[in-house]
Amino acid sequence: MRTADPIQTEIGLQKMLAVYVATGLVFLLLPGTFLGVWNLVSISSQHSLTHLSPAWLQAHGHAQIFGWLGTFIIGIGFYSLSKMGGLMPFAVSRAWTSWALWTAGVALRWIADVTERDWRFLLPLSATLQLAAFAIFFWIVSRHKPSASSAKRKPMETWMKLVIASTLALLVALVLNQLETIVLALTAAHPEIPHWLDQRYLFLAGWGFPVLAVWGFNARWLPVFAGLNEPHGRNLMIAMGTLLAGIALAATGLYGTATLLLFCASALAADALNVFRRSAKPAKTRGVSPLFPFFTRAAYVWLLIAAALGVYAARADFNGGIWGASRHALTVGFLATMVFAIGQRVLPAFCGMRLLFSTRLMGLSLIALNAGCALRVASEIPGYEANLRFAWTLLPVSAVTELIAVTLFSLNLAITLLLPPPVAAIRRPASSSVSYFGIDSVDKPVQRIASSK
Ligand code: HEM
Repeated sequence: MRTADPIQTEIGLQKMLAVYVATGLVFLLLPGTFLGVWNLVSISSQHSLTHLSPAWLQAHGHAQIFGWLGTFIIGIGFYSLSKMGGLMPFAVSRAWTSWALWTAGVALRWIADVTERDWRFLLPLSATLQLAAFAIFFWIVSRHKPSASSAKRKPMETWMKLVIASTLALLVALVLNQLETIVLALTAAHPEIPHWLDQRYLFLAGWGFPVLAVWGFNARWLPVFAGLNEPHGRNLMIAMGTLLAGIALAATGLYGTATLLLFCASALAADALNVFRRSAKPAKTRGVSPLFPFFTRAAYVWLLIAAALGVYAARADFNGGIWGASRHALTVGFLATMVFAIGQRVLPAFCGMRLLFSTRLMGLSLIALNAGCALRVASEIPGYEANLRFAWTLLPVSAVTELIAVTLFSLNLAITLLLPPPVAAIRRPASSSVSYFGIDSVDKPVQRIASSK
């Protein structure tokens, strides 16, 4: 078995994660948000969704879900997994290969969608590259066996089950993406997933792996950072089962029942995580914005709004406005708010025990994101569904506000990663104790930072 200098391996891991984070930020900013803003401004000037190329909408959605969230999730997964004893050097080199394949795959997908150049070849190729990148990650995950001592110590915790379910949901999404792109290449006139199929797929891509990953990491970290009571494991499992049933029903087109299940799952998860109950202890807010505990709760308000709007959309949507409002309450309100809050809390610590560059920028990014999202969700329905003039004028404002938020978030993390880490962090590698997904060991640098304040 190969061994390596633990300090060098630790530095290698930190560099690898920093590159994953930087890549996710690039996808978030340009192919994701900038194209999203462009799309929304075009839709608002035409007063209709129908004139815009579906391929451009799908390019935006893919860049956000897979390019941003997927890259972050895989990077954090590799970082935590790779902290397992003998697997370390081996896993780090695999993580680089996986990064190259994943980045090329997501970038090619965007190029094929937006330019339509050689798309019959590029679209399936992009899906294959993403699948290959994920296969490397998945292979290393499944090879991992907890050490005898940690396996004896504790049974698998609820948050781990959620993270495993999220990983499997991502695998299913990527396999379906591969099949979809092959069929499109053979049969379609443009690189556009037909609306009926895209609608079904988006339930898996939006409500599947990202939501499960957030619930899993929240179950692990919200008691530590936001001072919440420990989650109710059994109820969280019921929430997960209900969510998966909702996604499965949506795949069959039974949106009425599917959206009701997603609403129940969201309410159950918020309850099981004690999000709206009094905290057991004060939140740890030094080193991050004091608004951190407020926005982690606000994200769950968005989750419930997203789910409720989904129920409404299944019954009353005609022009995509209610579905769009629901989708962005989920993606921007819930997922992006949570990544802005938790990401700025943990990523600086993972990438070399750094301190976040600016707690004020963190607060501003969260305020702008939530203001933009509120404006967007409130004006999308009267605009798209009732063609009200004031709503069409507000929509571009919401887009620019969200773009400002994303820029502040990216700037804050980018500067944090570019500044040199504290010297002590380079000399002293984080603990290499083991657990599935390594989050126990990953907790340690974060807890060290949190408790040192
Ligand atoms: C500046 C922020 C954003 C803007 C202006 C924006 C804009 C848009 C627009 C105009 C659409 C077309 C459908 C509709 O009108 O509702 C859309 C679809 C979508 N957006 Fe966004 N978006 C933003 C952020 C995000 C984020 C952060 C995510 C995910 C993390 C996301 C994921 C999606 C998805 C999955 C779709 C559906 C694509 C499809 O039809 O296949 N968006 N977005």
